[in-house]
Amino acid sequence: MPDRYAVIGHPIAHSKSPLIHGLFAQATGQDIVYEAIDGGAAPGGFQRALADFRAAGGRGLNVTLPFKLAALAVADLASEDARLAGAANALRFEDGRIEARNFDGIGLVRDIEVNLGLPLAGRRVLLLGAGGATRGAVRPLARAGAARIVIANRTADKARTLAAELAPHLDGVPLVGGGLAALATGEAFEVVINATSASLSGAAPELPACAFAPGALAYDMVYGQGLTPFLRLARAAGCARLADGVGMLVEQAAEAFAWWRGVRPDTREALARLTVPLA
Ligand code: ATR
Repeated sequence: MPDRYAVIGHPIAHSKSPLIHGLFAQATGQDIVYEAIDGGAAPGGFQRALADFRAAGGRGLNVTLPFKLAALAVADLASEDARLAGAANALRFEDGRIEARNFDGIGLVRDIEVNLGLPLAGRRVLLLGAGGATRGAVRPLARAGAARIVIANRTADKARTLAAELAPHLDGVPLVGGGLAALATGEAFEVVINATSASLSGAAPELPACAFAPGALAYDMVYGQGLTPFLRLARAAGCARLADGVGMLVEQAAEAFAWWRGVRPDTREALARLTVPLA
């Protein structure tokens, strides 16, 4: 009998995870089935679906919105990345325990370094937004050797509070938080990441052109939407290296697959299948 895995979220119909994990399983010869579970909008829906899935022999879950916080809360064991992110995006059921990880940040790092060919060591990184997406990215970016990380948010206080909370966990990598307006004072970044939800409402965070260093990478965590308002803004600022988050999605899936199965899948086929041209 194949081992069972699934992604759980609400809504879930448009999730690419079943396709990605199906390709990984095929390429690595792993005998698994991977389905999509809608946890619903009602309170307790996630916990009930999780219990049913485990009772039916499920081995692991990917977790997406809006259940990432609940996924961490049900875990018996959690990685430090997941604890600092305050959220989990992958669960494993073993020896009667629930283990939680968060692979979003490492997926981002691997996409930038491996797929986009930009080593992060020594780079100044600007993260836009101070929500869960930024929270999950900070520590993996620091671990990759970023020289300095700045969190800039529309609501400046939220960025300051988040930076103060995470800074002690970064092995000395400088982290500061502030408002978007402060960016006008001129510091330039080699990597600028949009981790806000602005793209979803057709907007871009208001950041000045001077925030992009010459040759900078502009990275939008959303995927499949072509040139988002943020990527347009970056291009208008003279930025030629543009990327959306499709590689982050595929790479976090690969991390989860490797954690569950002990085999690291090649991600190129999934990337090729899911990439939508930006132009
Ligand atoms: P997530 O968990 O996906 O990061 P979140 O916690 O709701 O989502 O955070 C959304 C982030 O996007 C916030 O940092 C928000 O800024 P505020 O804290 O000022 O609300 C940011 N955001 C959303 N829409 C934005 C916009 N139009 N311009 C700039 N920032 C925006």
